[in-house]
Amino acid sequence: MKKRPIIIDTDPGIDDAIAIAIALKAKELDVRLFTTVVGNVSLDKVTNNLLKLLTFWNVDIPVAMGASEPLIEKLVDASNVHGESGMDGYDFPSPNKSNLLKEHAVEAMRKTIMESKEKITIVPIGPLTNIALLLKTYPEVKNKIEEIVLMGGSAGRGNRGVMSEFNIATDPEAAQIVFSSGLKIVMAGLDVGWKALVYPHDSVLIKDMGKTGEMIYSLLQKYRGRGLQNGLKMYDSTAIAYLLEPEMYEVKETYVEVELNGKLTRGTTVVDLQNYLKKEPNVKVLTDINEEMFKNWLLNALKKCD
Ligand code: RIB
Ligand code: CA
Repeated sequence: MKKRPIIIDTDPGIDDAIAIAIALKAKELDVRLFTTVVGNVSLDKVTNNLLKLLTFWNVDIPVAMGASEPLIEKLVDASNVHGESGMDGYDFPSPNKSNLLKEHAVEAMRKTIMESKEKITIVPIGPLTNIALLLKTYPEVKNKIEEIVLMGGSAGRGNRGVMSEFNIATDPEAAQIVFSSGLKIVMAGLDVGWKALVYPHDSVLIKDMGKTGEMIYSLLQKYRGRGLQNGLKMYDSTAIAYLLEPEMYEVKETYVEVELNGKLTRGTTVVDLQNYLKKEPNVKVLTDINEEMFKNWLLNALKKCD
């Protein structure tokens, strides 16, 4: 089977950890590089978290650190959701740092993309600062990028602002650079993230899935959103799920622009589903998900993760 080469840009992040576990085990995917970006918590903490995960799974895929702050917006992190460390709940062994590159994420992405025989899919599951910097610094990479499949945005209400989702709201300028890049973009936003839920009875099944299952179960005990009882959102896994089982989704080709100036709406993805703006669609928006298919997919994928 021909594997799809990808780069994952991430801010672990408890839901990032679950998405990364699944991506690493997927026989359809070839993770060429991880890059880290400030978001859920500081750049140092998210990088440390990623290295802890890769050490836990004894994976030696290269890691490059990226932006330590958004382009313009002041960082307001999500430690209230993921804990002070950004990945509270499990006592990981100290991370092996041998696969941490000295190069900046933008340089590492450019090199990985330009040296690849095949076009690369970029999978951002955090704020889009690194991706924006890459596209502005080295626009020539666009010819070698297959598409960008990102977790972020919302056609409806927000989870960071009234109408804005965390990854986009953390760096709205970066998001607008990406959405207006002319690249093929798939947006896995809150419209599907809010339906991609793990409940207590699911977490008990996950706990019995071996070493990784136990680790994820422990993280889920600390993952605060509205709490396990109400269903924990597997936001970042919805981007990986699109790569592996796109038929789970309803997809609408739509014009999307990021609001940069709204007094109350800055960071909102304006998703023009009714084409009021009469602009060419630039994004495949995942507008709905088959919840049962997603749950079965997630549990089956996690079963393979040991
Ligand atoms: O809005 C959800 C997104 O914000 C996810 O990527 C989560 O990890 C946080 O970064
Ligand atoms: Ca994330």
